[in-house]
Amino acid sequence: MHWLSSVIVIALITAFFSCSAAQVQQTVLQASPREKHVAIIGGGAAGTSAAYWLNNAFPKDKGSNRIKVSTTIYERSNYLGGRSTIVPIKDDPSLGFIELGASIFIERNYNLMNATERFGLERKRMVGENHQNNKGLGIWNGKEFIFEESGNDYWDAAKILWRYGYSAIKFKNHLTSIIDRFIDGVYRNDDDIPVFHNVGEALEQFGLECLVNETAADYLVQRHGFSEKFVQEIIQTASRANYGQDVDSLHAFGALVSMAASGSWSTKGGNIKIFEEFAKRSGATVKLESTVTEIQNITIYDEAGNPEERYIVITDDSMDVYDAVLIAAPLHSVNINFPFSTISPAYRKFHTVHVTMIAGVPDPSYFGRIEKTVPTMIVSTGAPLTDHFDQSEQPFTTFAIHKYLEDTGESVVKMFSSKPMTDEQLDQLFHNRSWTLRKEWEAFPKLSPITSSEEDEWPSMVLNGFDQGKNENGMLYINAFESCISTMETETVASKNAVRYLREQWCEDIYCIPFRDGWE
Ligand SMILES: Cc1cc2nc3c(=O)[nH]c(=O)nc-3n(C[C@H](O)[C@H](O)[C@H](O)COP(=O)(O)OP(=O)(O)OC[C@H]3O[C@@H](n4cnc5c(N)ncnc54)[C@H](O)[C@@H]3O)c2cc1C
Ligand SMILES: *[C@@H]1O[C@H](CO)[C@@H](O)[C@H](O)[C@H]1NC(C)=O
Ligand SMILES: *[C@@H]1O[C@H](CO)[C@@H](O)[C@H](O)[C@H]1NC(C)=O
Ligand SMILES: *[C@@H]1O[C@H](CO)[C@@H](O)[C@H](O)[C@H]1NC(C)=O
Ligand SMILES: *[C@@H]1O[C@H](CO)[C@@H](O)[C@H](O)[C@H]1NC(C)=O
Repeated sequence: MHWLSSVIVIALITAFFSCSAAQVQQTVLQASPREKHVAIIGGGAAGTSAAYWLNNAFPKDKGSNRIKVSTTIYERSNYLGGRSTIVPIKDDPSLGFIELGASIFIERNYNLMNATERFGLERKRMVGENHQNNKGLGIWNGKEFIFEESGNDYWDAAKILWRYGYSAIKFKNHLTSIIDRFIDGVYRNDDDIPVFHNVGEALEQFGLECLVNETAADYLVQRHGFSEKFVQEIIQTASRANYGQDVDSLHAFGALVSMAASGSWSTKGGNIKIFEEFAKRSGATVKLESTVTEIQNITIYDEAGNPEERYIVITDDSMDVYDAVLIAAPLHSVNINFPFSTISPAYRKFHTVHVTMIAGVPDPSYFGRIEKTVPTMIVSTGAPLTDHFDQSEQPFTTFAIHKYLEDTGESVVKMFSSKPMTDEQLDQLFHNRSWTLRKEWEAFPKLSPITSSEEDEWPSMVLNGFDQGKNENGMLYINAFESCISTMETETVASKNAVRYLREQWCEDIYCIPFRDGWE
């Protein structure tokens, strides 16, 4: 059966490409012009939320809306969520699950917060945070903890003030004002939120240009006068924990987003639940284990002789025609053949993160401590505070206890590192281990600054079509915005913008219901 359908597909493809434009026109124009078909490539945060926003913008069940969209999500793997995914602790679901990729979001990530609320999902603090054994954060330089929390908020605040002085207070206000600016630009509940057509425009709208053209170190120390010590110790700890990148290479926006991450949330049962709900409630057709290998653009002509773009999305066993395609994965990773060029010079290399999950009994003597006094979350120091590490190279970025297994007395530890953790290294950190899982991620872009002269070198959001108002169909790249910042929330912001983009194209002279903030 499968073999037979492949033969048919091959025959169809051959027929397609030997057709003249006139024959293609007949094949494709059967669909009503009011009905639009959209393909989404990738079922992660960006793809599933795009499907949800699409359904709210162009619902099938609201008679007044003149455009009805049918959406298909193509996902290469056998689950939705992409870089947001969970694994069972010790391969045993009865022990619970732990996030293998993206884990946290903040109170003011309104899309994710609203999603958990609407979808009836429970939120939780990072595991361990409220646990009696929780001893907070420690910053490890290879020899000693240069800073550690006590678990008592007031005492910790006093300690921070003592060590870092006025910088600590000033920073909090600075961060709040930046987040406010972002929120004002992004979450207004009206139809006047402007669409951004490229990443530069987005940064301008959100008032963030000045945050991506300088390293965090230059921006914070030179431009804003924060103390070097505060930036290298506290802010760099956050940027290393979040993006595995140091303040002398990361742009300021990346560092600020990392600092905002303290006191954050996860979804009980896994953030993946949010993305499964987005997909389910979107009514989209979800094709799991469907790798898109090729996308062809074809031009057809309507009765008036106007050209219209269509897209043929091809997998190993399917070939379907769409009016628009949304690429919801990093372009360099999709492995799709396009008949036109897509990767722009501004393409950013991705940062590799090795995640190691361990169930076992840690050996605190590695840190010169005993169980009672060793911090729960340990982050290694970055440049220039690396003298005490062997060859100035940190063996790990973070070491965090996420859960205590009462039955076995073991801890569940999640580590991030830039190289794989060897058994020898782990044996130094643990008395014994009953479960070790290693996962290498191409995690997020290297968030280095883009200088103003290169501003037009962000990856393009429009990959094909949508030209000069003549052609309302096309192909959009949702993850273009990821070159600027990589979080689950901002992927849902970029996907909502892509849907606003389609409204702008499709609703010019046809009635569309209001979209507002995308939730109705
Ligand atoms: C270790 C780690 C920790 C992180 N921590 C956080 C965090 O705490 N908080 C946070 O907000 N963010 C975090 N992030 C970043 C976050 O994971 C990403 O920004 C976000 O999940 C990206 O979502 P996406 O949908 O754009 O891409 P992805 O999640 O990568 O989804 C793309 C999907 O496309 C599919 N795909 C690709 N090519 C094809 C094809 N040809 N055909 C069909 N399907 C295809 C892939 O299988 C994938 O499922 C972390 C990332 C990593 C790796
Ligand atoms: C939902 O989003 C709106 C802004 O769009 C925000 O005002 C509100 O607080 C959010 N709800 C939650 C639970 O965060
Ligand atoms: C970054 O942008 C800001 C605001 O546009 C500007 O003042 C600053 O000089 C720029 N920095 C660099 C290094 O170009
Ligand atoms: C596909 O898109 C490219 C780039 O826009 C264009 O040059 C080409 O003519 C298109 N091909 C067809 C068959 O429409
Ligand atoms: C693991 O190490 C701890 C501490 O040395 C010890 O108490 C425990 O019995 C060990 N567990 C196993 C299964 O070896």
